Amino acid sequence: MNRFENQTAVITGGASGIGFAIAEKLAGEGAGVWILDMNATAADDAVKSLKDKGYRAEFVEIDISDEGGVKSAFQRIEDYGGCSIVVNAAGIVGPNGIPVTEVALSDFERTCRINLTGSFLVTKYALKVMLPGQYGRILLIASIAGKEGNAGMAAYSASKAGVIGLVKSVGKEYAESGVTVNALAPATIMTSMVEKMEAHQIKYMTDKIPMKRCGKLEEIANLAAWIVSKESSFNTGFTFDMTGGRSVY
Ligand SMILES: NC(=O)c1ccc[n+]([C@@H]2O[C@H](COP(=O)([O-])OP(=O)(O)OC[C@H]3O[C@@H](n4cnc5c(N)ncnc54)[C@H](O)[C@@H]3O)[C@@H](O)[C@H]2O)c1
Repeated sequence: MNRFENQTAVITGGASGIGFAIAEKLAGEGAGVWILDMNATAADDAVKSLKDKGYRAEFVEIDISDEGGVKSAFQRIEDYGGCSIVVNAAGIVGPNGIPVTEVALSDFERTCRINLTGSFLVTKYALKVMLPGQYGRILLIASIAGKEGNAGMAAYSASKAGVIGLVKSVGKEYAESGVTVNALAPATIMTSMVEKMEAHQIKYMTDKIPMKRCGKLEEIANLAAWIVSKESSFNTGFTFDMTGGRSVY
């Protein structure tokens, strides 16, 4: 299946977890992929493993919360022929397992800066590359925490609610442009981000899933691949559910 033949996809956070699973899926269906990540060691390994499979992959080291870095990364991508798919999967969990009264301002702001400001910057510069070609697919990884709120994760939940609001707004702004802007709201998927969380926080999140299991990376990659494909042509400004039944509106 070569759904993404002759297309270039940019995956932030593509060095690990959900981002890497999506990068591998898109590359396996023909896309050339750019991995944008702040973890150079993990990203080098990710690119190597994609190239070992015969896929096209490159890495740019960035912090998605730094406007200069995001701008120059997309400039470089444009110089190499642009991109038609951008998935923003970079993110952090921030303070967890504690009530909001114990959350330090600096931790709250850092979580929002990476998860929300980073989503804004990636969307802004992705649009600038895609709009002239009148086609593009932007997908931001939000979270069910942004819809429902997870107790013990106020900063993360607030930042992801912001991502959902961003997508609703920007999807409408560019609805006639050929570029769609959507989000995906997963429940718990076992990745290094979740493994680092407090045990009681993980239990809280997984207990809430009606299917009584975590999501799998291939499940999220399959839905993400459809959202960023040409087949998904009448969806924009929407946050898709991936929660094993925890779904909220
Ligand atoms: N795993 C889950 O259960 C789950 C559930 C809902 C949403 N999400 C979201 O999915 C996305 C991916 O999470 P994951 O579980 O794969 O985590 P992960 O930790 O495995 O991967 C995150 C990647 O983002 C990169 N990154 C972090 N901050 C960055 C920054 N400022 N600039 C550039 N790169 C940065 C990391 O280096 C890492 O490679 C995140 O946005 C997360 O909030 C995850």
